[in-house]
Amino acid sequence: MQDNKLNSLFKTKIIGGVLFKNRLISSPISINMSEKGFVTNNIINFFSNLAKSGVSMVTVGATAISDQGNDTLNGMMAGKDKYFKGLKLLAKNIKKNGANASIQIYHVGAQGNPKHNNQEIVGPSEYYFKKIGVKSRSLTIEEISLIEDEFCKSIVQSFKSNFDFIELHLAHGYLLHEFLSNYFNKRKDKYGGTFKNRFRLVKNILEKSIRIEPKLKGRIGFRLSANDYVKNGFDKKNIEQLVKKLDKYKPAYYVITAGLYETAEKKYQDMKIGKYWDYAKNIKKISTTPVIAQGGITNLYSAQNLIKNNFSDFVGFAQSLIADPGMIMKTISGNEKKIIPCIAHLKVGSCHRCRYLKQKDNTFSCITPTSWKPSGDIVSKKNIKKDLLIWKKLNSQVYNK
Ligand SMILES: Cc1cc2nc3c(=O)[nH]c(=O)nc-3n(C[C@H](O)[C@H](O)[C@H](O)COP(=O)(O)O)c2cc1C
Ligand code: SF4
Repeated sequence: MQDNKLNSLFKTKIIGGVLFKNRLISSPISINMSEKGFVTNNIINFFSNLAKSGVSMVTVGATAISDQGNDTLNGMMAGKDKYFKGLKLLAKNIKKNGANASIQIYHVGAQGNPKHNNQEIVGPSEYYFKKIGVKSRSLTIEEISLIEDEFCKSIVQSFKSNFDFIELHLAHGYLLHEFLSNYFNKRKDKYGGTFKNRFRLVKNILEKSIRIEPKLKGRIGFRLSANDYVKNGFDKKNIEQLVKKLDKYKPAYYVITAGLYETAEKKYQDMKIGKYWDYAKNIKKISTTPVIAQGGITNLYSAQNLIKNNFSDFVGFAQSLIADPGMIMKTISGNEKKIIPCIAHLKVGSCHRCRYLKQKDNTFSCITPTSWKPSGDIVSKKNIKKDLLIWKKLNSQVYNK
């Protein structure tokens, strides 16, 4: 039986004509189990499993517009005709299993690493981050125009393959965020300087995509960064300025996040103390576009508080659902004691397996016994056993603290 205290979470809502059965969303997750950019059975199984978890929308994580824009060789891609069939099958399976389907479209930009994607690293301007160890090259006007077309193709194709929503990644220091941000964008041409110029690439992508496929109006959502934690980076003022511009396009939703690769440590600390939810609340105060709060939401009771107290219209979960896709059902059936939590939610920095293991090979895995496991030879039974031992060890360390 559903607990009455969770009522705010189970109110329906309609966005762009699409019914949401509740306020629970699975946040964008990329599992890097693609082969040459194509959707694979493991990708379909992973997201179908999330769709069964009880959320009203599943967001397929970062899907690249090109090889250059892909952060690893195993990242999913969209835009070229050859990807259409797989994307259609993925959207169909998410919806068949009970959730609306959204897909996040992105280009990795200056935070790319040639060791992971074998590509030249490009951005609005030169950028160097010691940990990556490569200076990005500044894009030419012709290249920006090509990227604009690739974004449009990926957006339109994903929508035509029956994803209900397209989420444009304007956060985390990826290419579109870099164009918007004074910290990365030092250009002196029509793409740099004033906010109008820095917004030009996003504006062109939106207007062109909607011109090609008018039904996209009201179906594009945005992931936005509220804080980059660097001087001249995104902050309250910048995000509010951006939201005012984007609101004119009647977005489907905003999902509020923060941080760059180089400020990851700060971001996890902020997430842990619920700062991301305050950032979401600030946006909800200034816009009528539905807002998704996320980052460190570990259970339905915290989620309920956020909705009830007007921090957001929806709440997003990633690691809680990766660690235990049964988390929602166990809570509403009164079996929450059986939920297996994400170790990183118990202690910041204690586990990063699902995020970082994926960079080199097709081996996405979470160490908990309840998590989804890839099929086939990719993660062998022996490795799953090893994961369980790691989980037991970390779990006892975290609980003993
Ligand atoms: C394995 C993994 C993959 C992720 N992939 C993406 C992604 O593709 N795009 C994105 O914007 N965020 C991605 N994230 C970040 C999550 O969407 C989310 O913002 C973050 O994990 C914090 O929320 P949580 O505490 O509910 O996990 C990923 C996180 C994890 C753990
Ligand atoms: S691998 Fe670790 S960080 Fe990722 S969801 Fe599982 S327990 Fe959490």
